[in-house]
Amino acid sequence: MTSYISSSPTSTPELIKPKTYYKPYHIEIGIIILFLCLTIPSLIILTFVYRRQILPTSSSSSSSSIHLSDQNFHRISLINYPQARCMDNSIASYYIRLANNRHSRWLIYFDGGWFCYSNESCEFRRQYSPDLITTKNINEKKFFSGIFSSFKQFNIIYAPYCSSDLWSGSSNKTSSHGYDIFHAIFHQQNYFSHAKQIIFTGFSAGGLGLLLNLPDLLPKISSHIDIRVLIDSAWFIDYSDNPNGISKINQGMAYWNTQISSLCQLESRYKCLLGSEAIKLLPLTVKIFIIQSLFDLTQLQLDKININSYNFTLKLRDNLRQSSNRISIFAPSCPLHGFLFRSVWTKFDIKQRTLASVLNLWLKKKKKFHLQLIDEHFYSSYCPQINDDYQEIF
Ligand SMILES: *[C@@H]1O[C@H](CO)[C@@H](O)[C@H](O)[C@H]1NC(C)=O
Ligand SMILES: *[C@@H]1O[C@H](CO)[C@@H](O)[C@H](O)[C@H]1NC(C)=O
Ligand SMILES: *[C@@H]1O[C@H](CO)[C@@H](O)[C@H](O)[C@H]1NC(C)=O
Repeated sequence: MTSYISSSPTSTPELIKPKTYYKPYHIEIGIIILFLCLTIPSLIILTFVYRRQILPTSSSSSSSSIHLSDQNFHRISLINYPQARCMDNSIASYYIRLANNRHSRWLIYFDGGWFCYSNESCEFRRQYSPDLITTKNINEKKFFSGIFSSFKQFNIIYAPYCSSDLWSGSSNKTSSHGYDIFHAIFHQQNYFSHAKQIIFTGFSAGGLGLLLNLPDLLPKISSHIDIRVLIDSAWFIDYSDNPNGISKINQGMAYWNTQISSLCQLESRYKCLLGSEAIKLLPLTVKIFIIQSLFDLTQLQLDKININSYNFTLKLRDNLRQSSNRISIFAPSCPLHGFLFRSVWTKFDIKQRTLASVLNLWLKKKKKFHLQLIDEHFYSSYCPQINDDYQEIF
């Protein structure tokens, strides 16, 4: 008896359990079906919306693990071009990532990283920035964050900078071959036979290289292609108060044997790489977007300007505003150098308009369209905290 009684309390819960189990089970199935009915159509709508959106307006990433493996860039060596050499005479190369089944839109990015302009300064660079002069130890596959993970629908070429000459030189004597590397990339393959849009992008020295080399490259590209130029942090100005500033590049130009387009007839050759002059050489059909901090740390350093001296910043602001009404501008007051390669690039904003949304708008517009967002009073920019490295490498 005792054993029967003692066993009954344990058996009752077992009998009750299945009952309480079945009831919510039916309800759950109902909820799941309802959930699926609601989410599947909205997911379809969302995918449609997402496809129309070129860039994410926030940094949220919806990439699955399959996408991630597709996001690797593959290295291509310029082995057939004896002149396409880095400063240490290693063979120059570039990275490429092709978008799935789409070959009509291209983003071509030229990287930056300062320069050297004499035997001494180049010796210094060899010692203290050895990765900037070579393709030795370079990975076959690489992952790039920043805009490279945002532009999923684009074929992308990423050109690392190893010539130390603003992509402008052609000299066996000083091993400056930036010009040779630049043009070899476009000579090697007929990548653009089906291209509808090409965005040329350059950061810092890469941006200067674009301004110098595009006038001679563009006539070789079909006029049916929508050509865009996106310059990140390479809008330098001639800050006349300082003789040690940008005009020092003249010395480098002689050292590198810089190849300047015959279209640029300015007597002081370094002026051909000042944004306000260089854009005059680009055909009017080419759409230009300038991203430039009003407190760009590199030019402040180059011209030895105190960040608290607003004279330079005011001059840069006026230079941007007056340069041309054909360019779009995003000029925040963030004390840094470079935007697009950063993983937080989408978040920079001026008066609540993010860099990503402005760039997205610019890319969608086909006809004449320019938007000039300049932080007039130096306090309407949002500069997200930056804790990412220069590049993430897998
Ligand atoms: C710099 O190096 C080159 C090649 O080694 C040499 O020909 C040239 O004389 C050097 N220039 C100076 C100023 O030392
Ligand atoms: C520079 O070197 C390359 C490769 O060795 C050679 O083909 C070319 O003729 C040289 N150029 C000059 C100007 O010496
Ligand atoms: C800035 O410009 C003003 C007027 O143009 C001048 O008086 C002042 O000395 C300049 N300041 C610096 C730090 O160059």
